[in-house]
Amino acid sequence: MQRRDFIGICAATCAIGAHETLAATDLKPRLYSRVQLVDERGRPLRAEKLVAGRNYIFHYPFESTPCFLLNLGKPTVRDVQLKTEDGSFYQWAGGVGPRQAIVGYSAICAHRLSYPTPQISFISYREKSTASGVMRANTIHCCSEHSEYDPAAGAKVLGGPAPQPLSAILLEYDAKSDGLHAVGTLGGELFNVFFAKYEFKLAIDYGSAKTRQRAAGRTAVTELQQFCKQQVRC
Ligand code: FES
Repeated sequence: MQRRDFIGICAATCAIGAHETLAATDLKPRLYSRVQLVDERGRPLRAEKLVAGRNYIFHYPFESTPCFLLNLGKPTVRDVQLKTEDGSFYQWAGGVGPRQAIVGYSAICAHRLSYPTPQISFISYREKSTASGVMRANTIHCCSEHSEYDPAAGAKVLGGPAPQPLSAILLEYDAKSDGLHAVGTLGGELFNVFFAKYEFKLAIDYGSAKTRQRAAGRTAVTELQQFCKQQVRC
């Protein structure tokens, strides 16, 4: 095992926390490259710069797979037991950062893979509910068919047709620099079906060479409203 891999495994273990002992878990974290989160100018992102309740997008573990980065403004639930569509159990340890309020999730909806594109997004985090009552506050909601996820509890499904939580992105927080790295995923990955469904569209938006290319080194964090021209509200 190379030293970098070893460090990566240690980092993921820290991100998962010391709590991963209580429940039987049969789905382990999947480690990818340790990638630094940077701002749009390429400077290391500092956690304190993340505005609570705002949607941020970065790409991980592939150059074309979008993820949400959220500061929920208060500590998340800890040690949430979750289950994938195929019946595998796993345990999400909770948020990271100074207040344990920062979370990362794949932004690919677990129902029919709706995701934020540069042109339009049907899925995002919402701090407030809608007057229609379709959407609860403090949830990640997909307006395609109204799947709803709880970002403070490992993106567990709160409603709608989604058969499993959003895949969690494992984040490593460095208190000294206030910086963040992505190191892996936890939960039901959908990247293969995502690529199969959207290969053509992804090639247009990201270039065919980058579509399945692993993120490496650094990944830029952008506000959703900058990344995407139109956000669908429901
Ligand atoms: S694709 Fe998100 S609810 Fe159907």
